Amino acid sequence: KILKMRYRYYLILFVAFLSMQCTPEPQKIGEVSIIPKPLEVTIQEGNFVFEGEIYLTTNFAFHQPVQVLREFLYNNLNITTTEVPSDGQKISFYLVDNMENEEAYHLRVQSDHIEIAASNVKGAFYAVQSLLQLFPATIDKSKLVGIPAIEIRDEPRFKYRGMHLDVGRHMYSVEFIKKYIDQMSKLKMNTFHWHLTEDQGWRIEIKKYPKLQQIAAFRKETLVGHYSDQPHEFDGIPYGGFYTQEQIKEIVAYASARQITIIPEIEMPGHSQAAIAAHPELGCTNEQVEVATKWGVFEEVYCPTETTFQFLEDVIDEVVELFPGKYIHIGGDEAPKTRWKNCSYCQKLIREKGLKDEHGLQSYFIQRMEKYINSKGKQIIGWDEILEGGLAPNATVMSWRGTQGAVEAAKEGHDVILTPTSHCYFDYYQSENENEPLAIGGFLPLEKVYSFDPIPKELTAEESQYVLGAQGNVWTEYMPDSKQVEYMAFPRMIALSEVVWSTPEQRDYSDFVSRLEQYQKRLDEWDVNYANHIYEVKGALKNNEGKLTYELTTTSDSYPIFYSIDDTEPTIEYIKPIEIETSMKIKAAVKERGKNLGSIFEEEINLHKGVGATITIDKEPHPSYNAGGKEALINGISGSDTRYGDKEWLGFWGEDIVIKIERDPQVEISNIKMRFFVSPGQWIYEPKEVWVYAPKKPEPPENESDVVMGFSFEQGASLLLLSPYDEKSYMEFEYYHEFASEVPGLDDSPWIEIRVKNYGIIPEGLQGAGNKAWTFIDEIIIE
Ligand code: ACM
Ligand code: ZN
Repeated sequence: KILKMRYRYYLILFVAFLSMQCTPEPQKIGEVSIIPKPLEVTIQEGNFVFEGEIYLTTNFAFHQPVQVLREFLYNNLNITTTEVPSDGQKISFYLVDNMENEEAYHLRVQSDHIEIAASNVKGAFYAVQSLLQLFPATIDKSKLVGIPAIEIRDEPRFKYRGMHLDVGRHMYSVEFIKKYIDQMSKLKMNTFHWHLTEDQGWRIEIKKYPKLQQIAAFRKETLVGHYSDQPHEFDGIPYGGFYTQEQIKEIVAYASARQITIIPEIEMPGHSQAAIAAHPELGCTNEQVEVATKWGVFEEVYCPTETTFQFLEDVIDEVVELFPGKYIHIGGDEAPKTRWKNCSYCQKLIREKGLKDEHGLQSYFIQRMEKYINSKGKQIIGWDEILEGGLAPNATVMSWRGTQGAVEAAKEGHDVILTPTSHCYFDYYQSENENEPLAIGGFLPLEKVYSFDPIPKELTAEESQYVLGAQGNVWTEYMPDSKQVEYMAFPRMIALSEVVWSTPEQRDYSDFVSRLEQYQKRLDEWDVNYANHIYEVKGALKNNEGKLTYELTTTSDSYPIFYSIDDTEPTIEYIKPIEIETSMKIKAAVKERGKNLGSIFEEEINLHKGVGATITIDKEPHPSYNAGGKEALINGISGSDTRYGDKEWLGFWGEDIVIKIERDPQVEISNIKMRFFVSPGQWIYEPKEVWVYAPKKPEPPENESDVVMGFSFEQGASLLLLSPYDEKSYMEFEYYHEFASEVPGLDDSPWIEIRVKNYGIIPEGLQGAGNKAWTFIDEIIIE
């Protein structure tokens, strides 16, 4: 026995020695890198080394997590466990009753004993997940493997930790759905919101209605490219399919073994064109429509007839048999009221039931379905539109159009789940890189996801109790295959897992990124096609009393940045800010031994005559679109042509603005260019008028003779559009006007004043009608 102990001691030293030798090893023993970050971690002396057969004791309640651990040990280390007592290495699971939170756990690793305590199988499962993250990402079976001695006490901040997946726009194999669920479970997420019905396809087998399988599950073709590319083109290839009830049962069981509840979503009354294509009697017009072949919001919605309610109740009857969880999601979002307005049945119902209008009818629809679903022992969740016209009594609200829906519902005493587009829409772009794969739009980088606080600040501590948690949404219009789903979901799902598990005090982005670097090695092992933007370079122009420099930074400080200033491969190591004395094109990349880790960053610095001048704006930009501050307008850098959320564009909501630039009157200038972003889908429109003045004094000009340049859309003034309006929603819209050199007073004027008049209220027929338009302005180029 003594000999054996010595032997083990020797091995531990050996392992420690090995890990010291190989600095680039993914995870040295003693390094702990768990995501999501546990509540309390104490690293102790020593290691637990896996060797021989391990004596494992457990409670039957924990058989699922124990099985996960057994399989891991056997598959990766060839280690087996035994229930026959031995005096070798031990692993013990304890069922305890002193933990209030059923997801809490206590994990202790000592050199000869691993102990896991939990009051519920959920806690035990999470303990095993943390334990598995103590192993190195890649395991060499031929060597001994150890994990650090450690003590962890842990529990989640929120009880709802969700990920959503839309299988209506595109669908994925059963294998992939399982992989997605498995990946969620490693991050201690506990709810999979499965969006099963859409305009473009109905994906759940309903035995009572075979036409759902024959017709609603298939579309004749699919839109090619982005929705805003005109004209629309289609691939001519039929697309579709559905999950059989047997497959669904298999997936539900798979999820349950990983402590994940599935919430099925059956959309109503909108996003139902596929069902109406199969059953035209469910719509208001009874006319035959086809399963949608492009994206967007469609006018075909269910007509609230007895036929429709019978259909939906029959569907729910089959759905509740398949999904054992507490919730059914009934959608409720984006249901246009046009059909209901023009339908005599709907109008009669509104009068008979004493409803206020079509919103009242939507509320009636949802409340009636809620009653039925409640009678089945289930609760409903709906998107925040279910607030309009009055909330159903027991509904949980999923707030997606910002956080206002959550605030309103929580104040009314309803449970809420946060999925605002600003922080939770993983279908948005995650990088400003122009080469990103096609996405729906927007801009949601990893750091912004990580910065999310699911508790809206408008809520009191009392009201915050209604916030169950948050969820990442993966809408799949632009995700034709599972590789693209992975690319969009990872690593943002990883950041979100920490948002919903860890406390705000524990969160630190640069610490997260260093753990993510380790976690990516695990993702490589699991063949997950994650996006990697952590080695992307960011740049910022600094003006220190007229001396201009350009600073390069990157999120991870693990590797150096290299750059060039002449449009060549970046080869100069970045040590200090680059001096800017002339226009240049900076290229930069993070490199590991000469190899680029991220994409190459490029920035054109146009050292025009306005760069470094003094600028004032009479209004503050909107806080969500003010990343670069007012100096961004004259920093020599033009904002992205496609991502108005970057650090260059400034957004103003419904306001007219006056910009004043103070300049050296000795410097001759010949023209001024300005850039405005136009994206009607996001309510961003061109300004109504732009006027430029060159006053001799800082006061506003008093008469028209001070006007040196101006144009008005209404008057169609001398305006040159560099890129004409073509209804593309993400496009550059650049107005350009040259000064006549003989215009008196410009060259010797110390001020240039630019007045930008907002588009105003968006008229009927345009996107965002009735709302204030945004003005987005970027670089003012003075030449
Ligand atoms: C949604 O994004 N329509 C909920
Ligand atoms: Zn109707």
